[in-house]
Amino acid sequence: MVKDPADNNRNPADNNRNPADGKEIRFLCAPLEGITGFPFRQIHHSMFPGIAAYYTPFLVANQTMKFKNKEMRDVLPENNAGVPTVPQILTNRADQFVHAVLRMQELGYREINLNLGCPMPMQVTKKRGAGFLADQDVLDRFFEETFQELEHAGLNVEETGTSEQCAGRIKADRENPAAGSVRVSVKTRIGLEDAAEADGLMKIFNRYPLSLIVIHARRGVDFYKGSPDLDTFGKMLEQSSHPVCYNGDLFTTEDIVRFTKRFPAVDFLMIGRGLLQNPALIREYKGGKPLQEEELRTYMQRLFEAYHSVISGDMNVMYKMKELWTYAGTQFTGADRFLKQIRKARSIESYEAAAAGVFREGQFHTKVL
Ligand SMILES: Cc1cc2nc3c(=O)[nH]c(=O)nc-3n(C[C@H](O)[C@H](O)[C@H](O)COP(=O)(O)O)c2cc1C
Repeated sequence: MVKDPADNNRNPADNNRNPADGKEIRFLCAPLEGITGFPFRQIHHSMFPGIAAYYTPFLVANQTMKFKNKEMRDVLPENNAGVPTVPQILTNRADQFVHAVLRMQELGYREINLNLGCPMPMQVTKKRGAGFLADQDVLDRFFEETFQELEHAGLNVEETGTSEQCAGRIKADRENPAAGSVRVSVKTRIGLEDAAEADGLMKIFNRYPLSLIVIHARRGVDFYKGSPDLDTFGKMLEQSSHPVCYNGDLFTTEDIVRFTKRFPAVDFLMIGRGLLQNPALIREYKGGKPLQEEELRTYMQRLFEAYHSVISGDMNVMYKMKELWTYAGTQFTGADRFLKQIRKARSIESYEAAAAGVFREGQFHTKVL
């Protein structure tokens, strides 16, 4: 990424402030299925504080009205103690969503997020995730039924507020997780096949008391390819009567600064892969120390131990670590040989030897090339 020379003139005291008006930016950790489960969230939060809320990988709500054990384990309060967490639900049925919301509310969660962005064919063909965006009439009815049923269930759905109120509520959740109201947020793409879908989607979102609209500024058919469509994001932002969170391709401090300069009205940024590449990204953006090699070593070691204690089978633990290394490995140059050995490791011993090699032989840097 080309560095904007103006970035060098930033006053570190202004970091974490929206440069345009001095407002504080709230950072949210994106859900990544298979990666940002509770061990990741706990360890990241304890070592790199600064994330206002972690969104869980999606839990599927279906006709069984039961979550899988693995999904439940990810949201059990004891596994999320002290970590601001928002459960994410994947479904296209209002009754199933309402059931999930009530279940999450019982567990003490105050914001529940609906996944309208998953691009995987298995979900899209079932008209879930990004697949749900294609049928706007059905989506509209889904929300209508959802909010009616939540009202019938006697649940107080908190009204939409300003970004400040939204941020205040996220903070209050941490202090008073058991209060008896709930917020519903969505994480959406700009459309399934065409950015022109965005206009209709925003009209629907505006009709309902949603607390936050997280926009991953790509179409579903883009998966993760190409660049986010910032022009369409800008139009959605203008059109939204709800607080908006931007998501997509913020990998470095410079990316964040460039984004906030272009969109000073955005108070929420959700980051996924950028945090996996550089877990200290927010600290760095706020003017703190860049990621240190030693803390990355400790972080990876702690993740390894945490996965070991909750996942059975060495290969399964290594599978998680291999995935994490595809991101964290970007912090090194000259370590390709060892990163390849990590990918190929078939035993804990060979994994550990390869990981040690990355730190020993690789050249550590904090910028993604
Ligand atoms: C491996 C992987 C798993 C993901 N799982 C989820 C998920 O469970 N729910 C969701 O809303 N988005 C999911 N996403 C999308 C991310 O939350 C995020 O929107 C996307 O990576 C763009 O943000 P980023 O550029 O900051 O990573 C996933 C992305 C990846 C790469």
